[in-house]
Amino acid sequence: MHKSALCASLFALSLAAPLAYAHTAGDIIVRAGAITVNPKADSSSVKVDQGPLAGADLGGKATMSSDTQLGLNFAYMIDSHWGIELLAASPFEHDVKIKGTALGAANGKLGSLKHLPPTLSVVYYPLDGKSAFQPYVGAGINYTWIYDENVGSEAQANGFSNFKAENSWGMAFQVGADYMLTDNVMINAQVRYIDIDTTATVENNAVAPGTRAKVDVDVDPFIYMVGLGYKF
Ligand code: NI
Repeated sequence: MHKSALCASLFALSLAAPLAYAHTAGDIIVRAGAITVNPKADSSSVKVDQGPLAGADLGGKATMSSDTQLGLNFAYMIDSHWGIELLAASPFEHDVKIKGTALGAANGKLGSLKHLPPTLSVVYYPLDGKSAFQPYVGAGINYTWIYDENVGSEAQANGFSNFKAENSWGMAFQVGADYMLTDNVMINAQVRYIDIDTTATVENNAVAPGTRAKVDVDVDPFIYMVGLGYKF
């Protein structure tokens, strides 16, 4: 082949070749990394809703610690801009504390709970072409399954038992970016806000038999994940 013909065919090939970096229809992206759930945990005051003291407002509030676990994303690209993404993770565990109530023995660590917050989102990548940097935004639906609510030993000694927190459905929003290291391997960073609201109840038969307290918690966490991804 003449050199000029080779050049022409390489040029034609480069025009015909798909853009290396943009995600394209049918791509499956799997990401794994460290994911941190940092609850805002704004709550109502703690109210007694069952037992002889029902109706008493104890004041105070509930707080939750943050936790870091293994985060996973599974994304499927519908075209080069739009995709569907599932967030999964290993179970999160948060300490739950009660602060500032009128009942001194109620203040301090109440216990802990675990949760899984699977989230299904639509994601949009605005950039075309050869940019190795591919930012995106997303919005979707979260279901948070709360389980293994546990009263700590100190709270147990103060008569607390039967801690429960309701599961939650809510909206989820995210911004993130992939940076393509090769055609297939990327580093990723993302931030999410998920509307998680729960009502927690705990019983205390030491205060008075049949006493139950209730608190509404806007968990509403910011969620941060950094990790590596692979595009299939
Ligand atoms: Ni909320």
